[in-house]
Amino acid sequence: MTEQHYEDWTGEVGDRWLAHAEIFESMISPAGQALMDSAAFGSGETVVDIGCGCGATSFEIAQAVGADGKVLGFDIAPQLVREAEKRAERNHIGNVSFAVGNAETDSVAGLPYDRLFSRFGIMFFDDSVAAFANMRSWLSPGGKLNFACWAGPEENPWMGIIGQIVGQHIDMPEGNPDDPDPFRFADQELVRGILDKAGYANIKCTSWQGESLLGGYGATPESAVDFVMDGLDMKKAIMAQNPGALEDVRSELLKAVRPYHQDNAIRMGAGVWLVSAVNPD
Ligand SMILES: C[S@@+](CC[C@H](N)C(=O)[O-])C[C@H]1O[C@@H](n2cnc3c(N)ncnc32)[C@H](O)[C@@H]1O
Repeated sequence: MTEQHYEDWTGEVGDRWLAHAEIFESMISPAGQALMDSAAFGSGETVVDIGCGCGATSFEIAQAVGADGKVLGFDIAPQLVREAEKRAERNHIGNVSFAVGNAETDSVAGLPYDRLFSRFGIMFFDDSVAAFANMRSWLSPGGKLNFACWAGPEENPWMGIIGQIVGQHIDMPEGNPDDPDPFRFADQELVRGILDKAGYANIKCTSWQGESLLGGYGATPESAVDFVMDGLDMKKAIMAQNPGALEDVRSELLKAVRPYHQDNAIRMGAGVWLVSAVNPD
């Protein structure tokens, strides 16, 4: 068993996200669109985009709330916030700002907010109940939280297939179910329990079944496998444990993803929970 620190967003994990940001963002954009649709932002609303990364969703929300609204993108990783700020400047987006901080413990400027939003940015806290309670304190009474988190690996073949192939050649990380991890909120009862303890009401978990574009829109089987190796860090894990297996893994992955190549992308099934809840007081 090897250890993997998914929470190291201020270091290596964040650097890897930054290096492949457009691919990661394109890969999760179908789920992100579903989350945006379910959040249904209104003109003039104030929103915190939690774990905003390089700001892709912050910019979409800024457009949805219009010039009378405002968006704060908040993220623990300074290198990602810097990139978000550069993008905002480049694209002359005025109603969005960014700040570096830990959503689990820190406060934010401009309180209170009407809405909290997160596309896959809330699965990495040490103490999830404390984190969601802290974020609830940023909301005005009646303010709403919307986020997306992954359902189980069995509903996400993009992850299952990679794990199965790579796992035949090396030991894959086996985390404690409570550790910060992309799949830690796969169980909706667990999510409901956390939000309930953190003081939220009207908790709803809606299953979304769609696509994840492995390697982003426009990927070929070859570029998608390159992304698995570098963006998802499989190459490093293989080189550390069984370097002789690298070429076998590459060709097995290529064979596995080819059938999913259609309409200019590697389109693999994705299962996501779209979660919403309200701050009652
Ligand atoms: C999977 S990425 C998603 C990025 C972005 N939401 C997107 O969809 O493009 C997870 C993000 O959560 C951020 N994050 C992790 N732990 C955090 C914390 N405790 N406070 C704030 N941000 C955090 C990471 O730095 C990273 O940018």
